[in-house]
Amino acid sequence: MFVSKCLNVNEKGHLTIGGVDTVDIAGKYGTPVIVYDENAVRDNCRAFVRSIDKYYGGNGRVLYASKAFSCLEMCRICSEENMGLDVVSGGEIYTALKAGFPADRMYFHGNNKSEDELKYALENNVGRIVVDNPEELKALSVIAKDMGKTASIYMRIKPGIDAHTHNFIRTGQIDSKFGFALETGEAMECVKLAAETESINLVGLHCHIGSQIFDIDPFVHAAQVMMKFIADIKSQTGIVISELDLGGGFGIKYTEEDKPAAFGAYMEPVSNAIKASAAENDIPVPFVLIEPGRSIAGAEAVTLYTVGAVKHIPNVRTYVSIDGGMTDNPRYILYQSAYTVLCANKADKPRDSVVTVAGKCCESGDLIQENASIQTVERDDILAVLSTGAYNYSMASNYNRVPRPAVLMVKDGNVRTIINRESYEDMVRNDI
Ligand code: LLP
Repeated sequence: MFVSKCLNVNEKGHLTIGGVDTVDIAGKYGTPVIVYDENAVRDNCRAFVRSIDKYYGGNGRVLYASKAFSCLEMCRICSEENMGLDVVSGGEIYTALKAGFPADRMYFHGNNKSEDELKYALENNVGRIVVDNPEELKALSVIAKDMGKTASIYMRIKPGIDAHTHNFIRTGQIDSKFGFALETGEAMECVKLAAETESINLVGLHCHIGSQIFDIDPFVHAAQVMMKFIADIKSQTGIVISELDLGGGFGIKYTEEDKPAAFGAYMEPVSNAIKASAAENDIPVPFVLIEPGRSIAGAEAVTLYTVGAVKHIPNVRTYVSIDGGMTDNPRYILYQSAYTVLCANKADKPRDSVVTVAGKCCESGDLIQENASIQTVERDDILAVLSTGAYNYSMASNYNRVPRPAVLMVKDGNVRTIINRESYEDMVRNDI
C-alpha cells in the first residue's frame, strides 16, 4: 500500500512510521518535522553490504553518499554498519570526523575542492581523494609534498554513458562538469601525468553516471567501459589499477509508478561484467566500491506538516498551504519531483481530492506537489510527504528566514531528536 516498508496505518486510521503514530509525533514535536525509521535505514545499508558479499565475494565496500543526508547520527549509523563514506566538502568531512567516523574509510569527491579542503583532508588522513581535473592534481601534489605526505587518489572518469534521468542529475555523459573524458584522450593523459607526479599514488578510478536511475543496463555498461579503460592503462603504461568505484544512483520509490530494482539485481550483473572483463583482459579483479545515497535514506523518512489555508479556486485548482515548503524540500521547484502525499490523520480514508500542496514562502513556485491525490483535507490536519529522506534536509535553506525543521529518528517504538529545530536566534547567528 505504501512506497516504503516502514509505513503503515494504525487502528486510529493514522499513518505510522516504524510503528509510531505520526499524528502523535506531530503533536509532541511540532511541525514541520522530518522523521526517519532507523531500522529501515540500517536494513538498506545491510542489503547493499550483503549484495557485495554475495555477488563479489566481499571484495568491496559500500560508501554512503553523505550528501543525501549528512548529520552526526547518520555518520555514526554508517560507521556501525561498517560502511565507508562519500564526502564532498570540508563540511561533510568535519561532520563525519566529529561523529568519530574513521577517516581512512572516507572518499573525498568534488569538481572544485579548495586548497584548504585538500589540506584538511590530508591532515586528517582521509582515505582517498577523487581527483577531478589536472589543475586539482597539480595543487594536491604540491600540498601533499609540502606536508611530507603521499596522496592516494582515484581519478573521476566520464564513461560517456547517458543515463535516463533528470538533466540536472545526469553526470556520466561527456557534457558534464565532473571528471575526465575518455573519448578525447584527456583521461589517459592524466593517468600518465599522475604516474609521474610527486607525492601522488594513483590507486583507483571512479565514475558516477547519475541519480534516481531504474535501468540496470547503464550501470553494467559503465562497469564495462571502466574495466576496458583499466585494461588500456595497463597495456599503455604498465600501471595496475586495483580499485574501482562505480558511484551511486540507484532509484527509489517516490510514487507507486516508480519501480526500483532490488539491490542484488544490480550487483549480480555488474559483478559478472567486471569478472568477465578482468579474465578477458588479463587484469586483476579490482576491489569494488559503490556509493548509494538516496537508496539508503530516501524512502525511510517522511516530512510532517500542518495544513493552514485550503483555497478552492473554482475551475482552476485547490491550494493546500502547509507550514513548510521549498525551504525544507526544494526538489519540486528544482526537478518537478513526484511525491506521494497523504493526510496523516485520515490515512485510512480514500484519496478522493486532487490538490496542489503549496509552501509558505513568498514565491509562487514554492510548491511541494501539483495535482496530488489526497484525502479531503482541512485546516489543522497533518499532511505527510513520503520518501523525503534524501536531498531534502541536505538541500534545505533559510529562505524568508524560515528555520530548518527538526529531524527525528524512530527505533523500536522510541522517538528521539537527531537534529534540533532551528530557532529564530539561529537565523541571526552569523549576522553582525
Ligand atoms: N556518488 C557521487 C559521486 C555522486 O555525485 C552522487 C550523487 C552519489 C554517489 C549518490 O547518488 P544517489 O545514490 O544518491 O543517487 N540533489 C539531487 C541528487 C543529486 C545527486 C548528486 N550526486 C536530487 O535531489 O535528486
